[in-house]
Amino acid sequence: MAAGALAVLLSCLSCCGSALWRYHAASPNYRIFSTRTTITLEYEGTLFSEWSVPETCSIKDKRSPKTELRCSTPGFQNIKPIVTGPDLEDERYLFVDSTNICFLWYRKIAQYYNNFTQVITIWVYDPENADPDELQLKADAPSLNSYVLTRQMATLGQRPSIHTLLKRKVYLSDEKLKDGAWHISIPMTSMDTIKDIRGNQVTFQDCFVSDVLFLLGFPRLTIPETPGFLPISSPLGSQLMIVSSACVPSSIVLVAHMETFQTNDSFRTWTTIRVPPGILTDEERSNVSGVSLSPDGVFFLINGILYLKNITTFVKLGSKENLPDGGIIGITTRKWCWMNYLLKANKRSNLAIWTRDAIYLGYDSLEFVEIINIKKVRETIYIPSTATVRIHSIVYTAHPLEFGMFLSYCITCNVMKQIYLGIYNEDSGQWMLKDFSLNVTMDTFITPHFVFSSMPELILWDKHRIYYSYHNFSANGVIQTPTEFGNLSKLSDDSVIHDVYLDYYGNILVKMENNNLFFFKIYVRDAVKLPLWTNKATKTQFFLNSVSQVNFVSVFENGTLDVQEFPLSLEIRSATYKTKEKCPFVAFHNNIDRVFYILDKKKKLLIWAQIVYPENKGLYIIMELYGPKLLEYKFHNKYEIASGFCTKTMDIMLYQTVNYEAVHDYFKLQDQNMGHMVIQVRPSEFEKTCPTPPRVFQVAVGCDTSKYIVVKGFDYNDCPRHDFFYIIEKSYLRHQPDKNLRVKYSWKKYGCPLKVDFRTNFHPLLELHNENGYIEDVEVNFIVWEIHGREDYSFNITMQKSGCLNEAQTWKSMTTLNKHLPLEEAWGPQNYKHCFSYAIGKPGDLSQPYEIINKSNRNHLVWPMHRTGMYVFRVKILDPNYSYCNLTALFAIETYGMIPSPNGYLVFSVLFLLMLLFCSILTFSYFHYMRIYKHLYGPTDKRKQKNN
Ligand SMILES: *[C@@H]1O[C@H](CO)[C@@H](O)[C@H](O)[C@H]1NC(C)=O
Ligand SMILES: *[C@@H]1O[C@H](CO)[C@@H](O)[C@H](O)[C@H]1NC(C)=O
Ligand SMILES: *[C@@H]1O[C@H](CO)[C@@H](O)[C@H](O)[C@H]1NC(C)=O
Ligand SMILES: *[C@@H]1O[C@H](CO)[C@@H](O)[C@H](O)[C@H]1NC(C)=O
Ligand SMILES: *[C@@H]1O[C@H](CO)[C@@H](O)[C@H](O)[C@H]1NC(C)=O
Repeated sequence: MAAGALAVLLSCLSCCGSALWRYHAASPNYRIFSTRTTITLEYEGTLFSEWSVPETCSIKDKRSPKTELRCSTPGFQNIKPIVTGPDLEDERYLFVDSTNICFLWYRKIAQYYNNFTQVITIWVYDPENADPDELQLKADAPSLNSYVLTRQMATLGQRPSIHTLLKRKVYLSDEKLKDGAWHISIPMTSMDTIKDIRGNQVTFQDCFVSDVLFLLGFPRLTIPETPGFLPISSPLGSQLMIVSSACVPSSIVLVAHMETFQTNDSFRTWTTIRVPPGILTDEERSNVSGVSLSPDGVFFLINGILYLKNITTFVKLGSKENLPDGGIIGITTRKWCWMNYLLKANKRSNLAIWTRDAIYLGYDSLEFVEIINIKKVRETIYIPSTATVRIHSIVYTAHPLEFGMFLSYCITCNVMKQIYLGIYNEDSGQWMLKDFSLNVTMDTFITPHFVFSSMPELILWDKHRIYYSYHNFSANGVIQTPTEFGNLSKLSDDSVIHDVYLDYYGNILVKMENNNLFFFKIYVRDAVKLPLWTNKATKTQFFLNSVSQVNFVSVFENGTLDVQEFPLSLEIRSATYKTKEKCPFVAFHNNIDRVFYILDKKKKLLIWAQIVYPENKGLYIIMELYGPKLLEYKFHNKYEIASGFCTKTMDIMLYQTVNYEAVHDYFKLQDQNMGHMVIQVRPSEFEKTCPTPPRVFQVAVGCDTSKYIVVKGFDYNDCPRHDFFYIIEKSYLRHQPDKNLRVKYSWKKYGCPLKVDFRTNFHPLLELHNENGYIEDVEVNFIVWEIHGREDYSFNITMQKSGCLNEAQTWKSMTTLNKHLPLEEAWGPQNYKHCFSYAIGKPGDLSQPYEIINKSNRNHLVWPMHRTGMYVFRVKILDPNYSYCNLTALFAIETYGMIPSPNGYLVFSVLFLLMLLFCSILTFSYFHYMRIYKHLYGPTDKRKQKNN
């Protein structure tokens, strides 16, 4: 307790010397920072005297530490506080934009778990005239101003829609406003999380609404707080530890020295994670040294032992789960998100855990496997027996299936050690030592991080310096600063590096323990110091929020949190304006609008990239491929010069040339040529001021599992569904069994049967579809077979008619050849050989039916006459060069028609009998009638006679 009080006192003393200033804009994340914006200036400290601002800007109260500023002319504005005393405050060059984007979309999300939909309520707001609730993103309904503005916009034809970036779906809003807002209903998804609200090009008072990109996935549950549970924390005096899920960055766990916090909405709301009493001692509870987040829950590393906290329990993990019972040094998860990747053999891990000499991977449902250890490492590469080798740390790379293992190596082990890097591929289960080494002192701990790139490019840091290794380990060094040779501690009052933040745009932000910040970018070798943003004494950490902006979270001693948005791009512009640094190129465009492309056999990918730069520089475009050599490529360059600028355009074609026709081992060849490559396209030079980062994307070669085939004209959904049984006579069956076959017709599996007159032939046409519907007609060869074994159908073209020079393959020949295989495997793309060459096969009887169908050969199925029946066919693509997928489909045909009787004599006799019967009835009725007639008229006459 005394130590805690002392720490507070010390931190308070140190804080009094620190001063800083900040600026705010009303719009969230500084989205709009223009001539229309009211900029709030805020000075934190004691020595303030007045603000110094350019004449083009108007300030409300020059002498107030917190005041408002408006700049009516766009451009860089030099702003600084004038302070009493010897120290100078940092000045900033704020870039004030002139834009006619003034309005933003407000979005409010309601979750409906009953039908798994999210309803997004959207309205337009003007950040300069909005309610505080709207600015803090806490509003339930539009404010009066926003209500009026939204109505105006709607009358002018505005109507927002949501576009998803990964699956390319579009969701329109309701046409009419309801309660002053539009509503869009979208299904919950964890695969299609990047969403974009887009509107029509409608202006109101010359102002547009800004589109907004945001992340929205399947909502996650936080672990509930239970009364009576105790806090779990890091040791007193330690820095904040933060982890988030790579693909759901708004799910975050933050470990401080008094509590562990969790959030699912980027700290808009948060709860604490506490543990039941009795499992951990007080000392253990406040000794968390590592934390990780996976779909299974939150993992804590305490004194070398791993613990799991999930919604229901808090448990210690150990030998029961295949994990060591102690000695665990670290735990880590992926840093970069890939929603799609192609797995060939193995599973993909969620976590990596390591001890001094073994690495364990963690999969879904708490499955852990020891994947490699130092003994195996020593078996694969030569290491002198006198050397000590240990696992230093594990970090996932930017590749979706790889991680880097950093090994420390020393022989005498008294002064220096060397750090080596091996990269392990989870799918192949192989690891490779890379051409990377770093010499550090024995007691140095190095934290590595891979940047978002195709080749493994990395930065590493110890307490004082950032090391880099770029361009496939060929460019190595220390990130430089204008003075002190890159020793960041010397530039920040001897504070040490706390953490480094990297994003998908190539930004790298270094935070010191005292909140000093340094900035550089991917492929850049020097850093610039940014002005202080948060108080030196506050414990802070950065995180990525749901619109991919960096934010700071601070934890106060009283256990409360505070979130601050950080205007990274404004700060970079300010810092680099001072150093007069310029981006070497003016523009870098490309049409690579996906992060994942999957190419099936013979498919090509055509992309282009373009760079515009001042005439006197010699820039060009570089494409870098990482992974197995699965793709060939061709370039085509175009070059133009106009008004002092050069434009270079590179057209790139990526393609495969493998031919699978009649190969020895089809499946093996397929396997060798499947996999993926991570590719990037980038300008040859790059600086801190360049806005567009290298474009990184994946190209997978293999089966796109969302593709499937259907037989045209068949309906698989809309027909009355009721299963029934029918009998197939034994003589119609392939295997000639002794009994008739009773078959159950499953509507769910076979779809609606098509009724076909048995006199008409049937030609199946195949279509390729995916989740978005029709793609193309299938033009290539395919085969069909009746799945219950019927053989009483044929084909209406012969081998000769189809152009065969030798006897073609048939079901009969293929099943005789492959007796050991089940019917469906006896014939397929793996053993297909065509009949159109004298070199393949043998001459034979070419008058046999040709059993291979395709769109153009018009080969029809022929039914037995005068017999109705139910046929369920499976169709399979036969062309070996069509697809990596095993494309098959089922379709059912019910034949019908008039059945003439097999026996004419019987019909004749029946007819004769019927005629006979008819005649006898006729005769009988005649006599009967006559009798009645007589009976009726006879007496009448008599009566007449009587009356007369
Ligand atoms: C889902 O359920 C909610 C409330 O039960 C309803 O308002 C909404 O319209 C439903 N959405 C769909 C797509 O069925
Ligand atoms: C939490 O972890 C325990 C222990 O492994 C497991 O049995 C349980 O199913 C998990 N609960 C949930 C909700 O995942
Ligand atoms: C690192 O140390 C090793 C062994 O002491 C030495 O051979 C090597 O040249 C050093 N490398 C660098 C980059 O200084
Ligand atoms: C906790 O401390 C911070 C900063 O000292 C203060 O702003 C906040 O109001 C405090 N919260 C509570 C609940 O005391
Ligand atoms: C096969 O049947 C179709 C449809 O009845 C017919 O158009 C075609 O001419 C027939 N082909 C041959 C070779 O008989």
